[in-house]
Formats: sequence, structure tokens, C-alpha cells
Amino acid sequence: MTPNKDYGEMTRRGFLGWGFSVFAGMVSLATFLLSTLRMPLPSLMPGKSGKFKIGRREDFPPGSVKYYQDQQTYVFADTEGIFAISAVCTHLGCIVSKDEKKFICPCHGSYYDLSGKVLQGPAPKNLQWYHIQELASGRLVVERGKHVKPGTKFVV
Ligand code: FES
Repeated sequence: MTPNKDYGEMTRRGFLGWGFSVFAGMVSLATFLLSTLRMPLPSLMPGKSGKFKIGRREDFPPGSVKYYQDQQTYVFADTEGIFAISAVCTHLGCIVSKDEKKFICPCHGSYYDLSGKVLQGPAPKNLQWYHIQELASGRLVVERGKHVKPGTKFVV
């Protein structure tokens, strides 16, 4: 009886093919996991409430914009007044960044105009506006737990 030469070749090819498939699968999985780790993650605590001080009226000349990173809030001033807008995306809570004309969510591509109005989803709602109050001391306070209609400004 002679050994089956084809049987040996098929086994070796099959093994190599299987090994290559496993290797390719592991490379794909590793690539996916690495890309997932580098993706911006939604904020786990998007709904911080409470108040925070932002300074005095004179600290906000018309045209100024300040970002309070620890409060995830932008404060703008224009000729009509001062207003505070949440930086928390209304889709899944990622933090939006601002450019000259819009807020951009890095997670899933939503963007908003500078009044917080959704221009492109998947964000389902506009960015939240917060109430601004002036203390007896003259300090301005943003109240994150008190939402106001977009366009509501602290008149200076
Ligand atoms: S969290 Fe902003 S678009 Fe998804």
C-alpha cells in the first residue's frame, strides 16, 4: 500500500488555511478593540445639577465666550445679554466642542448651531440652556438645574 500523497497535501493546506483564518480574525478583532478604545466615550454623568459662579457682568463683554469644562457649560455674551448653554450632547451625553459656527459632537456626528439648535442628528433635541442669576454680591451664577427656553438671556 502506498501512502496517499494528496491526503497529506490537503491536510497541510487545510491547516494553513485554517491558521490564516484564525490569524486574520484575531487581527480584525484587535483592530476593532483598539478603534473602540480610541473613540470618545459618552459622559457617564451628563446631568450635573447645581449652581456655579462665573464672575461679574463686566467679565462678559459682548462677543465673549467662556467654557467651564468642569461644569460642561459654555457661557456667551452678546449685545442683548449673557447666556449659558450645556455642552452635553442630547443623544448619548458626549461633550460637544465648539468651532466658529457650531457645536460638534465627536461621538456620532451630531452638530448644533451656536444657539444649541440641532442641525444634524442623531441628537434628538437642542442643547439645554441654563438660567443665570445675579447674587446680591454682584456675582453671576449659572443654575444647571434650572432650564430656560433657548433665547432667554441675563440682561445686562
Ligand atoms: S452622543 Fe452626540 S451624537 Fe451621539
